[in-house]
Amino acid sequence: MASNILELTGVSSYYGDSQALYEIALSVREGTILGLLGRNGAGKTTCLSTIMGFVKARAGTIRFRGDSLTGLSPESIVRAGIAIVPQGRRVFKSLTVRENLAVAVHSARKLSKASWSMEKVFDLFPRLRERRDQYAGSLSGGEQQMLAIGRALVSNPLLLLMDEPSEGLAPQIVQEVELIIKMLKDDGLSIVLVEQNADLALRLAEDVVMFSTGSVAFSGKAEDVSRRPELIDKHLAVF
Ligand SMILES: Nc1ncnc2c1ncn2[C@@H]1O[C@H](COP(=O)(O)OP(=O)(O)OP(=O)(O)O)[C@@H](O)[C@H]1O
Ligand SMILES: [Mg+2]
Repeated sequence: MASNILELTGVSSYYGDSQALYEIALSVREGTILGLLGRNGAGKTTCLSTIMGFVKARAGTIRFRGDSLTGLSPESIVRAGIAIVPQGRRVFKSLTVRENLAVAVHSARKLSKASWSMEKVFDLFPRLRERRDQYAGSLSGGEQQMLAIGRALVSNPLLLLMDEPSEGLAPQIVQEVELIIKMLKDDGLSIVLVEQNADLALRLAEDVVMFSTGSVAFSGKAEDVSRRPELIDKHLAVF
């Protein structure tokens, strides 16, 4: 059985005095996808921000490949092998496609066997190659998402955190994003996939964690969730 590449135990985070995460426990098995689901405001983004070190965990431990990430800067966490595709595909809009990738390549270290170069990202996303000298702000939503994914890949991560990669994209583009995620997994990458699109997450993920108001409300296999629609109704449906 695959070992855990990432393990959170008892992780609590705050924004000022306001607690956003309550003793989160979750793990990602090496080479698999963990789907992280939950309603708006459940704490999904906060969880990814805490893993990246943008938000400091005030309690608990986060272990990556067995080592604690406590106290590490986001830069060190990226160097350790974790990358994030942020919610809302935040690319540098006033930089070109090529510049967006070049900024990220600078901090890259050869960790994974995949070894992503800018050229390899362009092979994966030929549309980005065609638009490499265009400002990122002038790209379509789908193209910006691909650039955000490409930017995360050139740091050669072992673990990729993806925050709602399908959000606000046309169905056809969502299909493309799904294929890319599947391909990255087949390539050996471990992934935390935050999604509001439960169907998409359940097709891709082996394991699922559902958050409800900052706590883990469910943790189990994706196939079990698929068989129990009441779980989706309880933790994800919008009333
Ligand atoms: N920068 C911040 N400052 C203060 N509170 C915040 C901040 N970011 C998030 N919160 C609060 O923390 C809680 C969790 O928010 P978070 O963004 O992690 O949820 P989410 O599950 O990612 O939601 P969504 O699906 O809308 O992206 C919410 O109550 C939110 O209002
Ligand atoms: Mg979010």
